[in-house]
Amino acid sequence: MKDRKPGPNDACWCGSGRKYKKCHQAQDQAGAQGVVQPPAATPRRDPLHLDEEERNSMRRACAFNAQLMDYIRDYVKPGISTGEIDQLVHDYTIQHGHTPATLGYRGYTKSCCTSVNEVICHGVPGTQVLKEGDIINVDLTSIVDGWHGDQSETLLVGAVSDEALRVTQCSFDAMWAAIDALTPGCKVKEIGRAIQRVAKAAGFSVVKEFFGHGIGKRFHQRPHIPHFAENSHGNETLDPGMCFTIEPMINVGSWRSEVDRFDNWTAYTIDRKLSAQFEHTILMTEKGPEVMTLTKRGPQRGHKFTNSQPANV
Ligand code: MF3
Ligand code: CO
Ligand code: CO
Repeated sequence: MKDRKPGPNDACWCGSGRKYKKCHQAQDQAGAQGVVQPPAATPRRDPLHLDEEERNSMRRACAFNAQLMDYIRDYVKPGISTGEIDQLVHDYTIQHGHTPATLGYRGYTKSCCTSVNEVICHGVPGTQVLKEGDIINVDLTSIVDGWHGDQSETLLVGAVSDEALRVTQCSFDAMWAAIDALTPGCKVKEIGRAIQRVAKAAGFSVVKEFFGHGIGKRFHQRPHIPHFAENSHGNETLDPGMCFTIEPMINVGSWRSEVDRFDNWTAYTIDRKLSAQFEHTILMTEKGPEVMTLTKRGPQRGHKFTNSQPANV
């Protein structure tokens, strides 16, 4: 069984926040009609199910991306601007011989997304200067030898409010609950079920307009990974060899979002209440999920966010 296809005016499955017709529709149709064909001599590789060599390529891409996250985390302090963070991401990636995936992606002109406070996702780095009490999601995606690693963390800027701590904790716990719900061959909807359970217990809401996604040689591919459970979604199975992201966005208030009418990217909560997000790239193996973007120095499974941790001050 396949997921319901998005209509032309629905949000694109890729999580860009754009209408399907303006985003991946043409590409999907080209693929479906066989317009994009590998040369006859090339053995056809299934882009959704990776063999061992391809899994190793993903492991390398994700390991570099995690290293970049470890590098950037320490710079996120009061007084730095989101544009300066972007520059650091850009330069570190290029210096290591890799490519920021968002640069030039569908007209996006920056090397990462920086989503502060009431921004759900796709915050565009610029002149905003971080101040004590902010929370910021830094979303990094690198291309390493043609393969993508994608992850994000919500970082605390100095000491933050209790509400900010709780929504950050909730999105982190929701991501890990979803990872723990994965078994070889399970349905995508197990992810949304786990996330909604954690959000409900905390009294928060789950964003419905931006999805996790399959990932590999392409930044965004099938399956799409909703972070909520509804009958029409999530019927695909997650079989060994599949790579995808889990990236729940959790809101303190309404789950609804609104995209900035000027930059066409930045997605705000409709009520301007706080939103937090974490993201990992996952490989389903024959034995279960492998989290490919684990960091050495970031928050590990089970982490508790407090204001007294080695804070980013
Ligand atoms: N990294 C985001 C994700 O998790 C996508 C950002 S696309 C951009 O899927 F163009 F907004 F950068
Ligand atoms: Co992603
Ligand atoms: Co991302």
